[in-house]
Amino acid sequence: MRILVVGGGGREHAIVWKLAQSPKVNKIYCAPGNAGIGMDAECVDIKAEDIDSLCAFAKDHQIDLAVIGPEVPLAMGIVDEMEAAGIRAFGPDKSCSRLEASKAFTKSFLARHNIPTAGYKEFTDKQELLDSVGIFGYPMVLKADGLAAGKGVVIAENEADAKKAIEEMMGDRVFGSAGDKVVVEEFLSGVEASMLCFVDEKTIVPMESAQDYKRIFDGDKGPNTGGMGTYSPSLVFDPELEARIRREILEPTLAGFQADGLPFKGVLFIGLMITKDGSKVIEFNNRFGDPEAQSVLSRLESDLCDIFLAVTENKLADVEIKWSDKKAVCVVLASGGYPGSYEKGKEITGLDKVDEDVVVFHAGTASEHICDASSCRSAVVTSGGRVLGVTATGATHEEARQKAFDNVGRIAFEGMQYRKDIGIINENLL
Ligand code: AMP
Ligand code: GLY
Repeated sequence: MRILVVGGGGREHAIVWKLAQSPKVNKIYCAPGNAGIGMDAECVDIKAEDIDSLCAFAKDHQIDLAVIGPEVPLAMGIVDEMEAAGIRAFGPDKSCSRLEASKAFTKSFLARHNIPTAGYKEFTDKQELLDSVGIFGYPMVLKADGLAAGKGVVIAENEADAKKAIEEMMGDRVFGSAGDKVVVEEFLSGVEASMLCFVDEKTIVPMESAQDYKRIFDGDKGPNTGGMGTYSPSLVFDPELEARIRREILEPTLAGFQADGLPFKGVLFIGLMITKDGSKVIEFNNRFGDPEAQSVLSRLESDLCDIFLAVTENKLADVEIKWSDKKAVCVVLASGGYPGSYEKGKEITGLDKVDEDVVVFHAGTASEHICDASSCRSAVVTSGGRVLGVTATGATHEEARQKAFDNVGRIAFEGMQYRKDIGIINENLL
């Protein structure tokens, strides 16, 4: 099989790394990829949003399967375009991608199918929203309807903050057209957890769970990020809770897709709030989480290529999906200043000192030729906010955590920051 993976972050590195283990796979291209992906696949200099060029590349290179990592090309309809060009593609089509690309679309889907979620109201008029400030009390949850690179949610503690956020979203249009519609939700308190599922038109199969750390600083302080680390499995779940989520959320979601004529095929990422009154859906994403993929795929024993092919053929029910009992911890190393502005081009050292059984997934990295007065050498440098995901497995969460942090200590670049509490189990949360 000849595969094209679209994207160039840590999630795509984890997908490429896992696909490379499949005996069926003899060639992997990744567009645009990054320095680490370049060790497992051939990187192609095409942006993930350049759908015409990706389709042309896939045709020219006899690609048997295109795997789409990020949400933006999915929302643009890359899967529809690939299929129209005769290329098999893994990921939801444009109609189903609205489940991530529009919060209002998802809220109405959830409400229509009686799937537990926070109560909500949508607004397209700034004045009407200002007049309704605090409709569900405080904190007030405000969400830009469209894609905003994970930054479109504001939890305002009081009226002044809420009004400021409304002005920014609908007046200054800081999220562009994504904020032309704003969804206001009831505030839910509880424990958050991510559940990723493989989905085809007949079947929904949850993967092993993962716990994400969204804030930049230890103890869940500071601004939100794309995710600073994960561990898998999440200890929030037990068999009873899982059975309830299957009954109250997964099965009605699949039935809802069928009833609404949404031919969802791909990965459905369900953001959950586990509350006193049961689990509620916070959001749907239509792709693997990043860095959830890094710890979850590290524990997958089955052939990922078989699963992807089965999903595209609506034969997910026929594949056996096996997981390792080992626990996984992924620690993200980020650029100084992230999630605000940061510098790029810092040389990364110590990647060659990492233990053989620890995987360093690359996110924002690039290869560069560095020359000084006496010589030239090739180096790996930073090129993004989240740079690396150091991922270790072990018999226990603690063993995986120790191993991950031991190896983190061998890697360095100027300004490097990471959370020290990834994988520390906070019993109070459970
Ligand atoms: P989202 O992009 O919808 O996942 O929201 C980003 C983050 O905002 C979530 O991970 C939660 O921490 C928080 N959040 C979103 N919706 C709610 C809600 N209704 N109640 C409380 N927190 C929320
Ligand atoms: N880690 C959260 C996400 O991928 O959206």
